[in-house]
Amino acid sequence: MHDWTTIIKATTVKDPASGAVNTPIHLSSTFYQADFDHFGEFDYSRSGNPTRQVGEAAVATLEGGKHGFLFSTGMAAISSVLEIFSQGDHLLVSKFVYGGTFRILTEVLNRFGITHTFVDPTDLAAVEAAIRPNTRAIYIETPSNPVLAVTDIGAVAELARRHNLLTIADNTFMSPVLQKPLALGVDIVVHSATKFLSGHSDILAGAAITNDDALADRIYFIQNAFGATLGVTDTFLLLRGIKTLGVRMAASSKAALALATWLQAQPQVTRVCYPGLEGDAGHAIQAKQAVNGGAVLSFDVGSEANARILAESLTIPEFSVSLGGAESILSYPPKMSHAEMSPAEQLACGITPGLLRFSVGLEDPRDLQADLAQGLAKLK
Ligand SMILES: Cc1ncc(COP(=O)(O)O)c(C=O)c1O
Repeated sequence: MHDWTTIIKATTVKDPASGAVNTPIHLSSTFYQADFDHFGEFDYSRSGNPTRQVGEAAVATLEGGKHGFLFSTGMAAISSVLEIFSQGDHLLVSKFVYGGTFRILTEVLNRFGITHTFVDPTDLAAVEAAIRPNTRAIYIETPSNPVLAVTDIGAVAELARRHNLLTIADNTFMSPVLQKPLALGVDIVVHSATKFLSGHSDILAGAAITNDDALADRIYFIQNAFGATLGVTDTFLLLRGIKTLGVRMAASSKAALALATWLQAQPQVTRVCYPGLEGDAGHAIQAKQAVNGGAVLSFDVGSEANARILAESLTIPEFSVSLGGAESILSYPPKMSHAEMSPAEQLACGITPGLLRFSVGLEDPRDLQADLAQGLAKLK
């Protein structure tokens, strides 16, 4: 089956009790047990819930995985996956990770003795040189937030396997219709399902997917022990949002390529980061491992002052954090998603003062381009 069909089949699961084509929202924290000695499949919703089970199976199917887990937020998914490690374990982490992932590593997990080294995942020799006897995993995010740096997923996974390490990949920016890290050798995929998977800027959600039974047991143990599970109403909305994932990603990524190409030719724009562009540093690897460049791009207008003028001039995109909604979203990473990093740390990751991130929604791209043109015309 092709992805678009798989998406619909995975999210249209008939209710065994009624035949309803949409999974009911099972608003029950507890489940009746008929037998004193033998309990049924569900007993308490933190441990398992029929609505969440359908959502978890759907995200697993989409990623080509056996086991899916849904969490209350993307950070809950990432934190829970990282909690499978123990005191004394060391992780190699892409220096391009999302600010919240940076925060959990540098300000929480380090307090529990889970240490990390940030590495440039585009430099495999440097990644290999950073491996220590207690290193357990390599954590990547590709394309990265917000500069869309591309990591060669297969090459990192192969390096990790040679050293008996796990590979964990944040696939938020691509979604499973554009990129399937498990098929490229990754052990665990994580998502902020808040973004493209749900697709409507209405819920917070996170997902983790694996093919490995033993890893799935470890993730399930943490999911149940830590308890950051996705609520059932949000699971319903996630399933509903996923139904249009294929068409949304196709439309938004086509528009993103058109806008990136156009932005490149504008004199006020000093840099465009979009791996769908042939001249982009990550283009060749992106073309090998993903369907296209995705629906997010970033571009530099030279200074914070210009970024401010543009943000205040645009009328179509919402100026806000987040991405992956039906509406286009313009954000300013230095003060938003990556505010956790010091200016020096930001610069080391290519987050310059004039950088804006554009998550391309479902508006007509001609209107988005016209809006950008009138905004750019106001820059100094
Ligand atoms: C790539 C990436 N990973 C993880 C997260 C965290 O997800 P959430 O905000 O759903 O906790 C985000 C949020 O922006 C993100 O962009």
